[in-house]
Amino acid sequence: MKKLKGMFAVAGTTALALSLLAGCGASNSVSSTSKQGASKDHKIVIGFSQVGAESGWRTANTESIKSAAAADSNIELKFSDAQQKQENQIKAIRSFIAQKVDVIAFSPVVQTGFEPVLKEAKAAGIPVILTDRSVEADPSLYVTMIGSDFTQEGKKAADWMLNNIKSDGTVNIAELEGTVGSAPAVDRKKGFDEEIKDHQNYKIIKSQSGDFTRSKGKEVMEAFLKSDGKKINVVFAHNDDMALGAIQAIEEYGLNPGKDIKVISMDGIKDAFQAMVDGKLNASIECNPLLGPALMETAEGVLAGKKYPKWIKSEEGVFDQTNAAKELPNRKY
Ligand code: AHR
Repeated sequence: MKKLKGMFAVAGTTALALSLLAGCGASNSVSSTSKQGASKDHKIVIGFSQVGAESGWRTANTESIKSAAAADSNIELKFSDAQQKQENQIKAIRSFIAQKVDVIAFSPVVQTGFEPVLKEAKAAGIPVILTDRSVEADPSLYVTMIGSDFTQEGKKAADWMLNNIKSDGTVNIAELEGTVGSAPAVDRKKGFDEEIKDHQNYKIIKSQSGDFTRSKGKEVMEAFLKSDGKKINVVFAHNDDMALGAIQAIEEYGLNPGKDIKVISMDGIKDAFQAMVDGKLNASIECNPLLGPALMETAEGVLAGKKYPKWIKSEEGVFDQTNAAKELPNRKY
């Protein structure tokens, strides 16, 4: 496994070679001015469209992108918040194209529907870098995707459950899904489902979106508890914020989260570590939001003519109540 800077890796040589070839296409072509990258009188202008501010993970991701840009004197960042709405994101990307930025980067709210605007960016000769989430579109329309393997994260959550919550009887699972149609919601569900399919006694009895927010996670969990409170053994939440909302709902319902109902989530934010230390959250599968430095490095590299694989993957761990206290002081987000 070849390592990029920090917690990133590119997949094996074949994938790398394929993506390098793909990277030679027109999608990476940039105007002659921007090809030179930053010069004394021209900083590299990056237009970045963020999903929103729905979670602790997202706050850390925004902070990482803004601070990495601020630390690089060659870069000027134009930042736009889509407030979880794809239409806002498409508007922002069109505005970046009109402003003739050097690089467009965005974390797509949902997976589909971006192809037309990606084609517009390509026609304008502006390279596009995806961060955090992937899109369903012709891969030649973007340079690379910097982020996590969400399917793998879903599998890790299921593996943790199968190894730590063993039972010969039925284990009823309530699932709090992320934003409908988003890559992390689709892929985390897929990975989890794939892993439990051969274990017939583990059953998802409830599944609904909590839109990755703490308030929605609580609201959905309250409804789950109202209808099936006595039956639920495990909550599988697609992020920590929804899990933390669910924990509150479980406590208000009069049960002990982490004991009466086990709770497993994703991200590894500090609040989740505290909840594990407090015995209320059982496990959190790490998802790295600190993508800012890799984005700046890649944007500069692309403009300097470097080629990249189609996916620059984050490397991540699994945390639970056995290692949370030791790790908590080291958490950066
Ligand atoms: O795309 C990453 C996901 O989006 C994180 O798990 C979640 O917290 C965020 O809102």
